[in-house]
Amino acid sequence: MTDAEIIEQTISFVKETLMEAEGGHDWFHIQRVFNNALHIAKTEKADVLVVSLGALLHDIADAKFHNGDETIGPRWATSFLQSLDVPKSTIDQVVQIIQNISFKNSLGEKKVPLFNSKELQVVQDADRLDAIGAIGIARAFNYGGFKNRKLYDPAITPNPELTKPQYKNSDAPTINHFYEKLLLLKDRMNTDTGKRLAQERHQFMLDYLEQFYKEWDPLKPES
Ligand code: ADP
Ligand code: NI
Repeated sequence: MTDAEIIEQTISFVKETLMEAEGGHDWFHIQRVFNNALHIAKTEKADVLVVSLGALLHDIADAKFHNGDETIGPRWATSFLQSLDVPKSTIDQVVQIIQNISFKNSLGEKKVPLFNSKELQVVQDADRLDAIGAIGIARAFNYGGFKNRKLYDPAITPNPELTKPQYKNSDAPTINHFYEKLLLLKDRMNTDTGKRLAQERHQFMLDYLEQFYKEWDPLKPES
């Protein structure tokens, strides 16, 4: 099978698997990450097949939608790629991406990178770009709605230093998520292209928040 055929088959598999997914983690999220990743990969020395498969398969079974089980995604990806006779070394690299891409795995005490590769850096940047900017805002409020979270509560202050268990169990308002994750991503981009693309999206979120607070309490003097 050619690389293009492997990618075609993987696209069909992912579309099928994510048919019922929440709006921020659906096929269109994957498509945007895939496109961003291919764009970033142009300026990096990265294996394009590994980047493509990593981007396409990175959220097929996100643990937060599977009772916290972090092993399902890697297992599904492995058996799917084995069924296409993809070489073991490629499968291993793709699985490493799925296991290490997550923001929450970089939180808390154990900040040591468990694994790193150029391909992981590219896909991680692409996924992070989709978490910020206008799309990032839409995804955050969609997820907050999915979890029945408040939009905002001035009495509940954000904690930008959450540990992984705190982050996963948080039921804080969605605005807090900006301070606990979204605004932190700009400084965590791996690649030069990723860093550059993150700037504009980051600024958009700052402008958005300013407007949000202004509308929340029009009588409050501007700070
Ligand atoms: P990762 O998979 O990188 O660890 P998450 O799964 O926590 O990151 O978040 C993926 C996306 O889901 C976020 O970028 C955001 O859009 C949404 N999301 C996750 N947690 C929250 C939350 N507490 N409030 C609002 N949105 C959230
Ligand atoms: Ni993702």
